[in-house]
Amino acid sequence: MEIVRLGIVGLGNMGKTHLANIRGGKVEGMKVTALCESVGTLPKILEEESAFTDVNAMIHSGKIDAILICTPHFSHTTIGIEALSHGLHVLVEKPISVHKADCERLIAAHKDKKKIFAAMFNMRTNAVFKKVKDLIDSGELGEVRRVHWEITNWFRTNTYYASGGWRGTWKGEGGGVLMNQCPHNLDLFQWLFGMPQKVRGFCQFGRFHQIEVEDDVIAVMQYDNGTTATLVTSTGEAPGKNCLEISAERGRLTVTDGTHIHFQRNRTPMSEFCYGSEAAFAMPESWHMDIPVESGGGQHVEVLQNFTNAILKGEKLLSPAEDGIRSVELANSILLSTWKDATIELPMDSAEYERILIEKGEQSTFKKTKVAAKASADDFAKSFR
Ligand SMILES: NC(=O)c1ccc[n+]([C@@H]2O[C@H](COP(=O)([O-])OP(=O)(O)OC[C@H]3O[C@@H](n4cnc5c(N)ncnc54)[C@H](O)[C@@H]3O)[C@@H](O)[C@H]2O)c1
Repeated sequence: MEIVRLGIVGLGNMGKTHLANIRGGKVEGMKVTALCESVGTLPKILEEESAFTDVNAMIHSGKIDAILICTPHFSHTTIGIEALSHGLHVLVEKPISVHKADCERLIAAHKDKKKIFAAMFNMRTNAVFKKVKDLIDSGELGEVRRVHWEITNWFRTNTYYASGGWRGTWKGEGGGVLMNQCPHNLDLFQWLFGMPQKVRGFCQFGRFHQIEVEDDVIAVMQYDNGTTATLVTSTGEAPGKNCLEISAERGRLTVTDGTHIHFQRNRTPMSEFCYGSEAAFAMPESWHMDIPVESGGGQHVEVLQNFTNAILKGEKLLSPAEDGIRSVELANSILLSTWKDATIELPMDSAEYERILIEKGEQSTFKKTKVAAKASADDFAKSFR
């Protein structure tokens, strides 16, 4: 194969952004040959691609080698399973599925490992987070003792939720900020620190918007080695911030707004100093340093290029779809903990979560006032963090 023939399903905000990038020649070795959209907007978008309104028809058309799934969350599982079973390469938007049981089903459908199955975790391409991972993995920080991540710069207006029928509902979106905006951060969280063993969540539902799902979240997590983590996120806070603080043996690393890394480095690791010092109130000497990082990273285009290269040249995937189950499990466990008012031990019970979530969707009497959003492509692009 010299060129990957791609079909995109779901030509809303994200699908159109990917289409523009590929049509613009930004992804070498990839061509969009088919588009599928269930509402009647395709004629306005279509150039030379084949058009479909039924995704299964596109999957079975013989016109594509790979599919990019940009539909609302629940359908990622069904479309992904059909595409994998039919032998297509699959790139799925985040989250890979809404709940852990669906992730398990989707991942189980990836039987032919020669087919590439990736997830759009574009924030893994961010040079700042790549550097943080390098500092942790190389031992530069020493053992991590505590993590605090406040991600409150996902502000969304009420119009944002009112404009899409599926948004802000259990049945349509399957969750709120944890399911739509935070999958990126939850993926980075597990990529950097691994999975905790205990999760306690405190979610507030429709606190800032007319929605039935969570728009305000605090979670406390614990690892078997005693490391603790807190995660705070919201779509209702302005001005918000994105600040990740890591307290480790060798000092405190602060990542501000995903752009700056500051390291306050202990000259002596804290445990060594704690037991080695003869003074009662001494502190290890520490040095302040800004860690230079070259650029922002290639984001969506870099993931698309990596997916293409994985198909054509066997390049290692930046974000295998199988990893996507972990951010979903984190999101699910924070919600489950809130609903049960209890601490959740991981791995969590995926069947229990699925049952409760489906019940919430079926029993919902929630109605929102629909509003048409005046949003430009620029507004959408600015919304990426
Ligand atoms: N990676 C990122 O930075 C990023 C950013 C925004 C959204 N997303 C993800 O992209 C996905 C889509 O989000 P969006 O904001 O573009 O939503 P959207 O509502 O703007 O677009 C979804 C589109 O899918 C279409 N659709 C739904 N079911 C379909 C089906 N069965 N067949 C064909 N078309 C169908 C809808 O008509 C709609 O046009 C979500 O998973 C979201 O989390 C990712």
